[in-house]
Amino acid sequence: MTTMLITGGAGFIGSNFVRYVLENRPDASIINLDALTYSGNLENLAGLDEDPRFASRYEFVKGDIADRDLLAPLLDRTDIVIHMAAESHVDRSILDSAPFVRTNVLGTQALLDAARHSHAGKGVARFVHVSTDEVYGSLPLDRPDLKFTEDTPIQPNSPYAASKAASDLLVRAAFHTFHMPVLTTRCSNNFGPYQFPEKVIPLFVTNLIEGRKVPLYGDGKNVRDWLHVLDHCEAILTVAEKGRVGEVYNIGGDNERSNLDLTRAILDIMGKGHDMIQPVEDRKGHDRRYAIDASKIERELGWRPTRSAWPDALEQTVRWYMANAEWWRHVKSGAYREFYKQQYSGRERVGA
Ligand code: NAD
Ligand code: DAU
Repeated sequence: MTTMLITGGAGFIGSNFVRYVLENRPDASIINLDALTYSGNLENLAGLDEDPRFASRYEFVKGDIADRDLLAPLLDRTDIVIHMAAESHVDRSILDSAPFVRTNVLGTQALLDAARHSHAGKGVARFVHVSTDEVYGSLPLDRPDLKFTEDTPIQPNSPYAASKAASDLLVRAAFHTFHMPVLTTRCSNNFGPYQFPEKVIPLFVTNLIEGRKVPLYGDGKNVRDWLHVLDHCEAILTVAEKGRVGEVYNIGGDNERSNLDLTRAILDIMGKGHDMIQPVEDRKGHDRRYAIDASKIERELGWRPTRSAWPDALEQTVRWYMANAEWWRHVKSGAYREFYKQQYSGRERVGA
C-alpha cells in the first residue's frame, strides 16, 4: 500500500483528486491534510468516509501546512506528497497578499522541510508540487504562436502568482541543494464540479440561476486555456508515478477561449440572453492571455487531455452546477457573503 499525503484535499482540485485516486488506485491510501479555509469544503467529499470501497484507505486531518509539529508525524507515514494546498484566487490576493505569502510560501517551505526530515532523515519517496501557468506571466493577444513552455522565464504579475512562483523556487532549490525527489506541475485554468463560486465559471452559472447578471472584467478579450479538472488529476498522478525528479511539467487543455466567448457559451447553454453580461471595471494587472505548451508531458509521459473538449465538457460542467444547487447555495451563504459585500461594494459578485 502506498500512502499519499494530499494537502488541500478539501478544495476544488484536491477533492476531485482524492476521489480520482481512490477510484483508480486500489493500492493507494490517502491522508487529506486541509486547514478548511473559506475554500475548503468537506461537502466536496461527502459520502467518502462511509463508502466501503474507500473508508479504510481514506483519512482526513484538519490542519495547517505551516504547522511543523503537526507535519512531522504525518510525513513519517507518507510515501508520496501531492501538495495542492494554497490560497488560490487572484482577486483576493489583490485585496490582501498576506495569507498568500503565509500559506503558499511559508507553508510550502514547512512542508518541504518536514518531507526532507521524515523517515529518520531519508525523506519521502516523491514530492509533487502543484503550481500554475500564472508564474510565467502574460502572453500578448496578437502572438497566437507563443505559448508557455517549461523554459519560459518566471514573470509573475499578481501577488497570487508571485507567491506561487516563490514556492516553485523553493521546490527547485530543494532538488538542487538537498537532492529531494521533487516534481513541479504548472497547469492552466481548471473547470469542473466543486469549484468555489468565486472563480469565473461557477460564479457566472450560479449568478444566472439566481437571476443575476454576470460581471465581465474589462473588454472581455482576456484568454484562458481551459482544462477539465479530471484531466488535471490524471496528469498529476501520471507525473507522480512516472515523472523525472527535478523536472517541471506543463499541463494544459489546448483549449484557449476569450472570456467573452466563454461567457456567451455559458449564456447559450443556459438559454439566457447576452444582455445578462454586465461589463465591470477590469481586474488590476489583469493578465491578457495564458496558453500552455504541454508537449513535454505528452512526449515523456504519454499524457494528453481527453475530457476538456468544448462544447460538451463546458455544457456538462454547467449542467452539474444546475443539478447541484444545494451544494453551491450552501457555499454562497453566510460569512462569505459579508466578506464580498464589504470588499466589492458596487460590483455584482457572489452574494452581492
Ligand atoms: P481551492 O482554493 O479550491 O482549494 C485550496 C485548498 O487548500 C482548500 O481546501 C483550503 O482549505 C486548503 N488550504 C488553504 N490554506 C491551507 C493551509 N495553510 N493549510 C492547509 N490547507 C490549506 O484551490 P484549487 O483551485 O483547488 O487549487 C489547488 C491548487 O492548484 C493550488 O495550489 C493552485 O495554486 C493550483 N492551481 C489551480 C488552478 C485552477 O484553475 N483552479 C490551476 C492551476 C493550478
Ligand atoms: O491559470 C491558472 C489559474 O487559474 C490558477 O492558478 C488560479 O488558482 C485560478 O483561480 C485561475 O486564475 P484566473 O484568475 O485565471 O481565474 P478566474 O476564474 O478568477 O478568472 C478567469 C478569467 O475570468 C480572468 O481573465 C478574469 C475573468 N473574470 C473573473 C471573475 C471572477 C471576470 O471577467 N469576471 C469575474 O467575476
